[in-house]
Amino acid sequence: MKTIRIEAHGGPEQIKLHESPSPAPGPGQALLQITAAGVNFMDIGGVNGMYQLEPLPFTPGVEGAGRIVALGEGVDHLRVGGRVGWFFVLRSYAEQIAAPIDALVPLPDTIEDETAASLMMQGLTASHFATETHAIKRGDIALVHSAAGGVGLMLTQIIKLLGGKVIGRVSNESKAEIARAAGADHVIVESGGAFADEVRRLTNGEGVHVTYPRVHHHVLTREALLTRSRQLFDWVESGQLKVNVGKRYPLANAAQAHIDITSRRTTGKLLLIP
Ligand SMILES: NC(=O)c1ccc[n+]([C@@H]2O[C@H](COP(=O)([O-])OP(=O)(O)OC[C@H]3O[C@@H](n4cnc5c(N)ncnc54)[C@H](OP(=O)(O)O)[C@@H]3O)[C@@H](O)[C@H]2O)c1
Repeated sequence: MKTIRIEAHGGPEQIKLHESPSPAPGPGQALLQITAAGVNFMDIGGVNGMYQLEPLPFTPGVEGAGRIVALGEGVDHLRVGGRVGWFFVLRSYAEQIAAPIDALVPLPDTIEDETAASLMMQGLTASHFATETHAIKRGDIALVHSAAGGVGLMLTQIIKLLGGKVIGRVSNESKAEIARAAGADHVIVESGGAFADEVRRLTNGEGVHVTYPRVHHHVLTREALLTRSRQLFDWVESGQLKVNVGKRYPLANAAQAHIDITSRRTTGKLLLIP
């Protein structure tokens, strides 16, 4: 099977296609055929060495969606052929992956693989931000950075669903349109860090109730993974939450996806299609 392999830390030039044997699912694991793998900003840190989640050489990627092709010992409540999404499973930039079943979320027929792959990290992060990091109350005003990005678009929509107001910050005018379309009440176009004065002006000097952090790691219990995913799927099914896939890349072009996400030109979710 094909995977992406990083043999030395560095920039996108280190992202290379590699041929390796399919992994065998161990006890408590399922072997998955990946149909869409999500690109997250944290993957950049994995490649350049800022986050060392695994020793070199390694395969980046932490989320995706696909189909179960084999089950490891002791797994009896899932079936071969079932569709699943997954949250934080290392080595997701690949055609296949052996994943612990606790990280898997069975997908309803109404949720397409690409939608699920877009929701697992960024959707769950956004819902965690808006319900746990600072639980939005009706009338709260939130500042959302990179509001047209993957997390930003989800977070903006969820804050609005919960009755809050959003001031989005983006780095150019074309992104401002996308952030407004997601529901942002005000959008500040700025990339250098001088947005605070504009926030004060927009809030009559009062400021916002919350600015969501740009770097944040959270761990979900199995129960929270299932209930939060269910809520995201319900919102998508009812049309209240839109998933915006900005661009799809063949697995072999993963380096280009990293170049694009750091160029600040992308909007929405970037997906690798193996
Ligand atoms: N993916 C996750 O699950 C997750 C979890 C926790 C935290 N986060 C954090 O949420 C933020 C967004 O992550 P994401 O995965 O959803 O990706 P994303 O928003 O789709 O990332 C792309 C956007 O990040 C901004 N950006 C890119 N390079 C930048 C730079 N050098 N300096 C400042 N901004 C830059 C750009 O937006 P603008 O040009 O409009 O600023 C760009 O369009 C990241 O800071 C990430 O660490 C993500």
